[in-house]
Amino acid sequence: MKIVPLTPVFAARIEDVDLTRPLDDAVFGEIRAAFEETNPASGTTFQRQSNLDIKTGEVIPPDDRRMLYQLANQLWHSDSSFKKVPSLCSLLSGRIVPPEGGATDFASARAAYAALPDDLRQRVEGLVCVHDFTWSRDQVRPGILTDKERAEVPPVQHALVRANPENGRKTLFIGAHASHIAGMSVEDGRALLRDLTAFVTQPRFCYRHEWRQHDLVVWDNRCVLHRATPFDSTRYHRWMQRTTVSGDPREPPVR
Ligand code: OGA
Ligand code: MN
Repeated sequence: MKIVPLTPVFAARIEDVDLTRPLDDAVFGEIRAAFEETNPASGTTFQRQSNLDIKTGEVIPPDDRRMLYQLANQLWHSDSSFKKVPSLCSLLSGRIVPPEGGATDFASARAAYAALPDDLRQRVEGLVCVHDFTWSRDQVRPGILTDKERAEVPPVQHALVRANPENGRKTLFIGAHASHIAGMSVEDGRALLRDLTAFVTQPRFCYRHEWRQHDLVVWDNRCVLHRATPFDSTRYHRWMQRTTVSGDPREPPVR
C-alpha cells in the first residue's frame, strides 16, 4: 500500500489497496492513522447523488425537484452538521463519472484555523453556532422543503471551534448548514460565517478531486468542507454513492 500526499496541508491518495476484499487489521490501521493525520462507533447513512432516475435510468431534467435539491451540494458544507451528533466521515464512490466537470472540491478548515489571524481566532473562541438544514436548502431555493420536512429537522448547536480528540488540533466547524451564531444577531452571525468560509476556502487550503470511475474518496467531516461542482447534466451521466458515518456521541463539545 502507498499513501501519497496530494497537497501540503491535507488529502492523500491511497494506492494498491483492494477494496473488493475485506481489509486486514494492519492495513485498516494504517488507513485510519492516515485519516487522523492527513485530515483526513457509529451510525451510517446512505445517499445517492445522481442525475439518473433510480428506476428508469433516464436523465432527470435539471428543473426537477431532485436536481434542485442536489444543487445544495454545490455550497461548501460538512455532511450532517445539522444533526445533534455530527458526522465523523463520508465515503463517496464514483460509480459513473462525467468526462468533464463534476469534480468535488475539499477545503481543510483545520489548516485554515492554524493560519487564522490572531484577532479572528480570538473572536471565534467559545462561540456557539446554530446549524439548520432548512437554512442550507433555503439558500438554493426558499420553499423547496415542505412544512412537514422543515419540522423534521430542528436546528442544533455546535461549538464553532472544535478540537480533534486524538491530536488536539483545532478547526472551524462551519459550512452551508451553519446558519448563525447563538447570542449574536442573525445578520452579524451570518456575516462572520461568510468571512470564515471565505477564509477556509482559499485555494491554499483546497484540494480538487477530479473523478476517475470507481474512485472512493473518504474525508473527515469534522474538519473538512466539501462541495460538488457543476457538470452538464443534460449531456453526461453522473452517479455518486455516498456513505456517511456518524461521529462519537460522547465527544464534547456538541451542545
Ligand atoms: C455529498 C456531496 C459531492 C459531489 O454527496 O454529500 O457533497 O461531488 N457530494 O457529488
Ligand atoms: Mn456532501
